[in-house]
Amino acid sequence: MEKTVKFTIDGVEITAKAGQTIMQAADEAGIYIPRLCYMNELKPHGSCRVCTVMVNGNPQAACTQPVAEGTVVKSETEKIQASRRDIVDMLFVEGNHFCMVCEKSGNCELQAMAYRLGICAPKYPYLFPKLDVDGSHPDIFIDRNRCILCGRCVEASQDIDGKGVFEFVGRGQEKRVAVNAEAKLADTNMEVTDKAADVCPVGAIIKKRVGFAVPVGERLYDKEPIGSDIERKKNGKT
Ligand code: FES
Repeated sequence: MEKTVKFTIDGVEITAKAGQTIMQAADEAGIYIPRLCYMNELKPHGSCRVCTVMVNGNPQAACTQPVAEGTVVKSETEKIQASRRDIVDMLFVEGNHFCMVCEKSGNCELQAMAYRLGICAPKYPYLFPKLDVDGSHPDIFIDRNRCILCGRCVEASQDIDGKGVFEFVGRGQEKRVAVNAEAKLADTNMEVTDKAADVCPVGAIIKKRVGFAVPVGERLYDKEPIGSDIERKKNGKT
C-alpha cells in the first residue's frame, strides 16, 4: 500500500503521498500556494521564493520541501503574504514590465500574481534596465527586459526538448538568460513547437504573430485569479 503522510497547511489536515513536495500535496488538496518559477512538468528548483511557507516555524520553499509527518505549515499569514508582495514588487521594478502594452498581459503570471497579492503599483523605484531583445528567430521573440530569471526555459529546453538552447550567464545583477549560439536565437536549433517556447511565465519569450489573437478581457487571468484552477478542486468543481 502507498505510504502516506499527514500534515497541516493553515490548519487544514492534508494526507499526502510520501515523497511529494508540500506544493504537490497542497495542489492535490486544492490549496493554492503562490509560485512563479514552479511548473508542474518541470523539475522544481526553488529560485523565485514566492512559494516560501513556514514549516514548523522555519521558512522553506514549498516547491522543493518534501512533506513530513506531523509538520505544521503556514502559508497565508500576513507576514508571508507581505514577503511575497515584496518579491513580486522587486521583480516588477528590476525589469521593464509595461503591462498596458505587453502582449502577454492577461496571460502573464507575474501580473496575475501581483493582482492576486493585491499589488496595484510597486513600492520600490523602477530601475529601467536596458537589456537585449532578440527578434532574429522567424517565430520566437526574446525580450530580456521582461525576464524574471525563473529558469523554466533553461530546464524545458534541456530536460524536455533535449536541446539546451538556453543557459544562465553572469551572476547577481548581471545574471541573464543566454542562448547557446554565438549571438542570437536564430542560430540555435530552437523551434516554435519546443516546450521552451511555451513555458515563460511573463512576456520574455513569446511566439510571433499570436500575441493579440485573444482580445484583452478574454485572456486567462482576465477572467479569474491565478490559482483558481487549483482552488476549484477544494470546492469540488474540478
Ligand atoms: Fe518555489 Fe519559485 S515556486 S521557489
